[in-house]
Amino acid sequence: MNQEQIIDEITQLKQKRNAVILAHYYQASEIQAIADFVGDSLELSRKASNTNADVIVFCGVHFMAETAKILNPKKTVLLPDEDAGCTLADDCPSDQFENFRKRHPNHFVVSYINCSAEVKAQSDLICTSSNAVDLIKQLPKDKPIIFAPDKNLGKWVQHQSGRELTCWSGSCIVHETFSEEAVLKLKLSNPNAEVIAHPECQSNLLDLSDFIGSTSKLLYYAMSSKSSTFIVLTEPGILYQMRTKMPNKKFIDVPGLDGCSCNECPYMRLNTLEKIVKCLQNMNPQIEIREDLRIRALKPIQNMLEMSK
Ligand code: 13P
Ligand code: SF4
Repeated sequence: MNQEQIIDEITQLKQKRNAVILAHYYQASEIQAIADFVGDSLELSRKASNTNADVIVFCGVHFMAETAKILNPKKTVLLPDEDAGCTLADDCPSDQFENFRKRHPNHFVVSYINCSAEVKAQSDLICTSSNAVDLIKQLPKDKPIIFAPDKNLGKWVQHQSGRELTCWSGSCIVHETFSEEAVLKLKLSNPNAEVIAHPECQSNLLDLSDFIGSTSKLLYYAMSSKSSTFIVLTEPGILYQMRTKMPNKKFIDVPGLDGCSCNECPYMRLNTLEKIVKCLQNMNPQIEIREDLRIRALKPIQNMLEMSK
């Protein structure tokens, strides 16, 4: 099948199954182009919580599809490639997290949405990169806080909110691949460019940035800025939306260490158009979650959605 036939097949299968395709900005361009909705983690959770479709095809990674299932137990949630994981979620095994919590009794537990359902179930509040600062600022001043699993996001949120956070020490392999040297080189050859960065980047790179925010916030910032050139410090999938929405502006991605293409998330990129066809044909791989675990993981997600209205 050529690409056109694959897209036709997806359209027909979507109708047959009453399915909606949700995609994260880090998906390949051709997936973003056929998705019903493209967004950052927070927008995708909101969308998943109020869709009328019977089937959600989640073009993202496992924790995102799992969040959609937690919010929609009666719907079928498909993840085109079941191996689409995340190093942040993997960096925080639930048994080790339980011990960490026990070492910090009386702490309020805030977890980044990039974690497993088991870790969510042990949390008081879930956040995304888009609402983390705002949510932390809403917490009672006298309450000590645990933040997991991303240490880079945690450090940035601590600085922005003025709240002391006891951070778990996880990180994202993609955002840790960026080097100061590569950014400085790009700044030198593009002296008028603004550097815009995702808060999963290390602090030395955030210090070089003109604007820091979630994938959606980076997109909206570039739309509102008077600048015409941007050096973009995050996974380059977002450049598809930036270039489509702002054809007259220039967007430069930052190569990984030694110029490798490891700035692309190897998990996000496992999904393909062919795998979307297959999962809609076979209704597999499906996300399943035990009901008792789902109920416990749902509470802190609902708290997030409630507090970030
Ligand atoms: P956002 O979607 O919140 O920008 O997070 C990016 C990310 O790393 C998703 O895995
Ligand atoms: Fe996880 Fe990083 Fe990939 Fe996002 S970009 S899914 S945080 S590994």
